[in-house]
Amino acid sequence: MLALSDTCLKERVLKEDVLVVHGGTPLRGEIRVRGAKNLVSKAMVAAVLGETASTLYDVPAISDVEIVTGLLEAHGVRVSTGPEGELVMDPANVTRAAVDEINVHAGSSRIPILFCGPLLHRLGHAFIPDLGGCKIGDRPIDFHIQALREFGAVVDKRPDGLHLSAPQRLRGIKYELEYPSVGSTEQVLLTAVLADGVTELRNAAVEPEIIDLICVLQKMGAIIKVHTDRVIEIQGVDRLTGYSHRPIPDRIEAASWGAAALATHGEIFVRGAKQADMMTFLNVYRSVGGAFSVDDSPVGGGIRFWHPGGELQPVALETDVHPGLMTDWQQPLVVALTQARGLSIVHETVYERRFGYTTELNQMGANIQLYSECLGGTPCRWGRRNFLHSAVIAGPSKLHAADLQIPDLRAGFSHLIAALAAEGTSRVYGVDRYISRGYENFDGKLEALGARTERP
Ligand code: EPZ
Repeated sequence: MLALSDTCLKERVLKEDVLVVHGGTPLRGEIRVRGAKNLVSKAMVAAVLGETASTLYDVPAISDVEIVTGLLEAHGVRVSTGPEGELVMDPANVTRAAVDEINVHAGSSRIPILFCGPLLHRLGHAFIPDLGGCKIGDRPIDFHIQALREFGAVVDKRPDGLHLSAPQRLRGIKYELEYPSVGSTEQVLLTAVLADGVTELRNAAVEPEIIDLICVLQKMGAIIKVHTDRVIEIQGVDRLTGYSHRPIPDRIEAASWGAAALATHGEIFVRGAKQADMMTFLNVYRSVGGAFSVDDSPVGGGIRFWHPGGELQPVALETDVHPGLMTDWQQPLVVALTQARGLSIVHETVYERRFGYTTELNQMGANIQLYSECLGGTPCRWGRRNFLHSAVIAGPSKLHAADLQIPDLRAGFSHLIAALAAEGTSRVYGVDRYISRGYENFDGKLEALGARTERP
């Protein structure tokens, strides 16, 4: 039998994983967002901590959920699905997973690192393979490891991944994060809830997804206080039960479609989008000249986004931890900013390399220059280290079609928006590999919005 070489296989996969986009048509219609990817995946990990089964509702069918399902099943958790995105996870038989089974998921997501605390509590040891996730910076895990060591875990870094053990019950800690990292805050929460004694976490991240994870843990029996000034106090308890939870809606997906409406001169009603979690985005949207209206009916509500006509205005903005402007909103917004008249400035302060995708936008006719200085706003960690982390966008630019290779999830969606806004036919490669990690049924949603796309 003929064996395909790696390169050959890669080329074939790339050829199959392509969306042909005939651009220039305004997106119009309605789509619905479900539970936030960045809460759902963490709540799934939390299920390991319970003594009884947990149920999550409104879980989107995205590949990150499949990855976490695979990891749960590898550890003996029974996972079953029901209608309308229901996911039931029964951890009654949590067990050590074979390294090979865990390694299947190596390099595919950042979530495995969050299994450390729950597995240490349930089994006394854990193995975490090499992490994946989007290539938007170094994405170290030093805060996670430091905190776990303080809790009393023994962490052994080996070439195949991290081997951890807990010779005794983990104990509560006083810990201050150098930066309010989302993942590290979640790591501390998921470990502290069953640790012996009180944990005080300073400089914690307080993103809505973290508050929702705290709600999940509280339903399980945890005692967690969120103080002012980024201080979270967790009183360890002896046992937790399962939970039943409807997650907050995905505010990154909602904003992505909002930006798509603006960039394509369209109008999209994003059913399920919640104003309170998107205030910073909505302020920027309005400043740029986009229009929105909020329907807060308990059933069927959402946010309508549209381009009201006329010219878009340039803005100066800076990404930051919550309540600042989310870094994940940056890429879709930049595509819309290519259509604003004048110079917009975007200072990315969360990740050091989150502008890689602008090379392709420039090939499509955008005019985006990158700088290593901190342009506008407060000096950040990346200014001193020479990373191209500020962008100046001169607009408006007429975008034209191109063949695009998607580099990561959010950048990929931005490429897709640019292709939809551009005149002509673009081929976007890597859509299934990257976009389906965080956007459920995007082919179907594009069709519902009147986009002219095909799968060759
Ligand atoms: C989460 O990543 C999200 N991912 C990201 O969304 C999101 O962009 C990010 O938070 C910020 O909101 C998930 O929830 C799965 P961080 P996370 O720890 O937790 C540095 C998407 O597309 N840092 O808050 O990995 C780090 O390098 C993804 O959905 C350390 O230095 O992000 C970064 O500069 C992309 N040491 C900053 O903190 C550490 O040990 C923030 O990262 C940990 C982080």
